[in-house]
Amino acid sequence: SASEHVTIVEMAPRDGLQNEPRLVDTDDKIRLVDLLSDCGFERIEVTSFVSPRWVPQMADAPAVMAGIARRPGVRYAALTPNIRGFDAALAAGADEVAVFASASETFSEKNINCSIAESIERFLPVAEASRHHGIPMRGYVSCVVECPYEGPIAPEATARVARLLSELGCYEISLGDTIGRGTPEAVDIMLATVLGDIDAAKLAGHFHNTSSRALENIAVGLDRGLRVFDASTGGLGGCPYAPGAAGNVDTLAVNAFLQTKGFSTGLDTAKLDRAAAFARSLRSAA
Ligand code: HMG
Ligand code: MG
Repeated sequence: SASEHVTIVEMAPRDGLQNEPRLVDTDDKIRLVDLLSDCGFERIEVTSFVSPRWVPQMADAPAVMAGIARRPGVRYAALTPNIRGFDAALAAGADEVAVFASASETFSEKNINCSIAESIERFLPVAEASRHHGIPMRGYVSCVVECPYEGPIAPEATARVARLLSELGCYEISLGDTIGRGTPEAVDIMLATVLGDIDAAKLAGHFHNTSSRALENIAVGLDRGLRVFDASTGGLGGCPYAPGAAGNVDTLAVNAFLQTKGFSTGLDTAKLDRAAAFARSLRSAA
């Protein structure tokens, strides 16, 4: 019988590279996306249309989008914190956009310079424009179990922001353990609370791997019915506003883990290995 499908959304070009201290060449970013396009992903997050002063690494977003070889069947996504970012992403031909909020007020201020309520206000015109142009809009909630500034986050706080993003029109809400210190127990309670309002089919898990528990957290997500997980080839990543956080869980590890659990991902392991070697070569020397 055919095994059940799980979607891995590839993060390396965006979450992976945004935190690299050395500016990675635009051509290398394009090469990375092209290698990933060959692996069988349905969705690749390519870049962010954010302030180049805040995140200099993503300043070449239009050039990266223009340079990639688009493979039919792959959706190329970009982060868009406001309508200005959306307009730029649209002009660059993004197939999908993502707004990003936080369950923590302090992280919201540090990451996007506004309160949670203000962030939702800023996303309203993005939501309207994405509907108008028929561009799917994803939503992130950061700090779903823990915040680098506030510590543990109440599950109800995460559920509330997830609900706001869902009401805004996000087709999927990606739940981010931004600092990668979530325990499976905390993740389970958080998911149970969010699932009180939102179907598992609309949720994704986005686990950083600082405490090396991301695969366990994915297992908890699978048990709770989630079938979409974000991961980063080469384990690259982190958020400039989450000091000390490690990268996203490694795509190769997630793929292998899902296979042992009997799920199919549609990814080509040999091609993933090749992309991972290149991704790792882009990391700054420690
Ligand atoms: P602000 O200062 O409140 O906004 O920043 P502003 O409208 O006053 O603009 C400030 C400056 O940014 C101005 O330029 C604007 O022109 C410019 P300046 O006068 O300083 O030269 N600007 C823009 N430039 C390019 N594209 C835009 C744009 N908007 C304004 N779209 C803002 C607010 C959101 C812009 C800023 O805080 C920002 O860019 N933050 C980016 C933060 C970020 O990218 N963080 C990492 C991604 S989130 C993440 O990694 C978490 C996630 O992985 C999930 C998880 O792990 O939890 C998704
Ligand atoms: Mg992240």
